[in-house]
Amino acid sequence: MVIMKTKIIRLNEQQINMQAIEEAGQIIRNGGLVAFPTETVYGLGGDGLNAASSGKIYAAKGRPSDNPLIIHIADLESLERIASEVPKVAYSLAERYWPGPLTMIFKKSDCVPLETTGGLSTVAVRMPSNKIALALIEAAGGYIAAPSANLSGRPSPTLAKYVIQDMDGRIDMILDGGEADIGLESTIIDLSGEAPVILRPGYITEEMLEEVVGQVETDRTILEGNSKQAPKAPGMKYRHYAPKGSLTIIEGPQESVTTFVNSQLSINKKEGKRTGVIATDETAGLYLADCVKSVGSRSDEEQIAKHLFRILREFDDEEIEVMYAESFECKGMGQAIMNRLLKAAGHQVIQV
Ligand code: TXA
Ligand code: MG
Repeated sequence: MVIMKTKIIRLNEQQINMQAIEEAGQIIRNGGLVAFPTETVYGLGGDGLNAASSGKIYAAKGRPSDNPLIIHIADLESLERIASEVPKVAYSLAERYWPGPLTMIFKKSDCVPLETTGGLSTVAVRMPSNKIALALIEAAGGYIAAPSANLSGRPSPTLAKYVIQDMDGRIDMILDGGEADIGLESTIIDLSGEAPVILRPGYITEEMLEEVVGQVETDRTILEGNSKQAPKAPGMKYRHYAPKGSLTIIEGPQESVTTFVNSQLSINKKEGKRTGVIATDETAGLYLADCVKSVGSRSDEEQIAKHLFRILREFDDEEIEVMYAESFECKGMGQAIMNRLLKAAGHQVIQV
């Protein structure tokens, strides 16, 4: 890995410093890498139509090169250039949810290098709504390939300080635009086959997609830990979002969960372990761990989604060795929350 000086620039989405955007766009046009804020999580951007840039992205993340990247665009004409076929439903979805946290998969056109798509004949495309992201895409020539800006396997960064933690010295520039609004990566829907299929749940829920396209299927591997089938989004098969300590999800009625977790915590403490609990506003006062963090109120899924990755990172900062998390309902956005939490826990779940 080449060690380089990473320039860090703070930007305000409401009043964007266009000189910084021009400088960042120039870096990407010249084949370099810039991390930037989006409404979901921070992205690690390079020129999506430049095979060498995509190679650099994989190297900087330590990511397997069979795991394809999403190309970020700022207008619909750009979609027509990189997708060889754009079905009608894509325009309906774009009208409703773009710019925003939705990624659509299409058959790719020849100008998209296989290095960007991990060797696949399809391409994932998203038009983000963050204004810094949109300005950067335009300044960079229109096509930014960007995975989440974390080292492979770590929780996606929702704050620039976590991008700095993972990427300082590995990329040319980091644009700090504050905390990501949504906090979970985009929903991915595959439109390259006969029927639309959700490959990764996110802020745009199954119900929201069905309002526009009618019935959609969901890749069955999304919430199963031991499925024999490979997930259709190659990235979903890798261990992900993992905190450094061990994390177990405890499922059951709230009082049983609290009692069980506290009895485990007292065992862990006797063993000299540093302990943590991912709780909610309603329960945070009930746990006896070294570090109890609330993801928000149970009645507010948006807050839970927004805080989850930050909290996983904070447990690492505090060197917590054993963690427990409460479980959430798998409905609506809860599906995305549980998908990420289950992956972070390596599918370790205890029913009480
Ligand atoms: O919200 C997001 O989507 C963020 C921000 C930065 O835009 N990006 C992001 O990228 O989460 P990444 O690379 O961390 O996750 C992309 C996922 C991976 O699981 C990958 O396998 C899947 O999308 N993917 C990309 N292209 C694909 C394709 N052509 N077919 C199937 N899955 C694809
Ligand atoms: Mg990622």
